[in-house]
Order: sequence, then C-alpha cells, then structure tokens
Amino acid sequence: MLLEFPHGHQVLKGLQNFEEVVEFCSLLPTKYPPAKPAEAPWSHFTFCLSFLRQTGYAPQVPSFQLSLEIDETHAEFLSESLYEQGCLGEEWRETQLMAMPGVSAPPPGKIYIVSFFETLKAAQAALEAAQSQWNVRLIELVETEDKAWDMAWRERVSSTETQHLWVGPPWLKPSAGKQALYIEPKMAFGTGEHPSTRLCLEEIEAFCTHFPGCSLLDVGTGTGILGMAACKLGADHALGIDNDFSVFPYVRENLMLNEISNMQISNAQLHHIEGQFDIVVANIFANALEELAEALCKKTRKYLVLSGILRPQSAQLEMRFSQLGMRLSAKRAFEEWVCLGFKTQ
Ligand SMILES: C[S@@+](CC[C@H](N)C(=O)[O-])C[C@H]1O[C@@H](n2cnc3c(N)ncnc32)[C@H](O)[C@@H]1O
Repeated sequence: MLLEFPHGHQVLKGLQNFEEVVEFCSLLPTKYPPAKPAEAPWSHFTFCLSFLRQTGYAPQVPSFQLSLEIDETHAEFLSESLYEQGCLGEEWRETQLMAMPGVSAPPPGKIYIVSFFETLKAAQAALEAAQSQWNVRLIELVETEDKAWDMAWRERVSSTETQHLWVGPPWLKPSAGKQALYIEPKMAFGTGEHPSTRLCLEEIEAFCTHFPGCSLLDVGTGTGILGMAACKLGADHALGIDNDFSVFPYVRENLMLNEISNMQISNAQLHHIEGQFDIVVANIFANALEELAEALCKKTRKYLVLSGILRPQSAQLEMRFSQLGMRLSAKRAFEEWVCLGFKTQ
C-alpha cells in the first residue's frame, strides 16, 4: 500500500493499513520511538523504514514510477498484471475522486494507475506486458522522489576520524593511510559521530597503540563500533555485549562488512562474563555505569573507559569508581559529554 509522509512518499508493502504500520512501529525499541510514522521526525522514520525493510515487512526502495491510463473496465486486470510483474504498490486516480493539487484527473471513462517498481527493468517489463494485452496509454515512467529522498538521507551521514582510524558508512571513501571501519548507519547511535563514542574511540586508540595484542570488552556494544575499532587498531580479540537483542543483526552485518573475525558478541549480563580484559569500555548512561560499577571494575585488568556521562554527572562517578579502588587517569570532555579513564591500581 502507498503511505504518504510529511516529507515525501514511501511505499510500505505487507502491512495492510496505516494502523498496522503504527502498531508495528510501536513494537520497535523504545529508544527509537516513532510515535506515528506520519508524525515522526525524519530520523525516526528513516530508522523505522530501514527496520521494516530489514525484517521483510517493507520492500526495498521503490525507485521507479510507471503511470498508465486505461479504460475503467480493464483497470482491475491491469492492476493484477502489474503486481504479477513485481509492482510494489500502486495508486489509482479516478475521475470521480477529487484530484490532489498538482495532480491531473483522468478523462471520463478512464483511470490512471500509478505503480511503483524497484528496478527500471521490472517497470519496463510491466509496461510491455500491459501494452500487449490492453489499450493502455503511457503517461510516464520516471525515477521516483523516493530514490532522491534516500540519497538525501545518505548525504547527511558523515565520517569520523581519529589519528589512525576512519569510521564511516560503506559508500564513503576512507581517508588515505587510516584504518577504515565501515558502519551501516541503521541505528540512531553508534556510527562514531556522537561525542561519547568519539571520545571512546580515542581512548581505545591510545590503549591499543601502547598494548598491541590486548583484549577488550565493549559493554553496550550497539553497532559494535568500539569492539571493531579495537580489532582494527591491533587488539587480539574483543567481546561486545548488549542487553538489547535488536542490535545483534546490525553488529553481525558490520562484522562481515569489515571482515572482522576476532570479535565475539553476546547478550550475557556483565556479571556472567568470565575472566578479565585488558581494557573495558562502557559507553552507556551514567545510571547504568553506577549500577554496573563493581562488575566493570572486576572485569578490568588494566584500563577502564567510562563514557555516556553528562558533565554534571561526572563527579559522582569519579568518586564511586575511586572508592572501588580505581585510579582516575584521564578525563576528557567533548560538548556536554565526559569520558573517564581509570587505571587499576
Ligand atoms: C549509547 S549506546 C553505545 C553504542 C556504542 N557502544 C557506541 O559507543 O556508539 C549504549 C548501548 O548500551 C546498551 N546497554 C545499555 N545498558 C546496558 C547494560 N546494562 N548492559 C549491556 N548493554 C547495555 C544499549 O542497548 C545500547 O546499545
């Protein structure tokens, strides 16, 4: 079915009506709350749509729009044929319906059928099939706005760099001389642009440079960015854990994209993880860091990096971890975010 959204058009197939889409979106993790697709801000909608596509509830981007005019009596047959040829969704413009502003109405006795296809080849095959059976008039076969829309979103995703690392989406070219880490920007968090992630990347880089072959535990791995960065920067192995199941398909995709085989992922709770790691990184929020404080210290062999801390929350955490026997050795801030580095004594 065709759904209209404030910034343009998208086609969602497989969900029968708008209520089903809204209901489906309400099942998405609460940290990405798209209240209603029609009201959701762009980023939430983009996330929601890519999630729907990934889970098979929505088709790939319908890139081509085929508009045909046909006699009313044959419209149903044409519609069926278009779907057989791979049409992802369609819209009927009938004489008796009031035309939308800027949209022409068909002449009496005729219907306009606007159909959407993923590829030009599929749209052309559908046109040929229609022309061989009925007296159809081709109004237009064009690339849709959706394509441009998708591209516009891509253009807003940028890359992040540290001294030795470049992190960016797969369609950008990495900077020469840097280790490239590709992240599919499907999640709102974890593409390296957030200050708290960036600060962690710098800490990891400094540590891995000093201790090549080290081990790293990434608590709250999200897209897997921090564990993967460590692997790229010389760590022997990394383990990423997260309490949100929905992140794992993305981490797996990113691991494959970067051909990383020495990072494991798990949804086990921190206190169930065995052994110690040379460096432990946790970019989660201050209250979670507080809750996990003892377990974080226990898992750390040499260095503990805490991030996701807002400036006013820092002092409390510094005190808490110092009381647990850790020694504050780095404190860096970027915008309103603080990152703390503790050495074991
Ligand atoms: C702010 S994101 C950080 C993602 C990524 N590590 C980065 O630096 O960009 C926090 C992640 O931690 C996870 N998380 C929050 N609390 C957690 C906990 N107690 N145990 C494990 N993961 C947790 C969330 O599900 C989320 O994926």
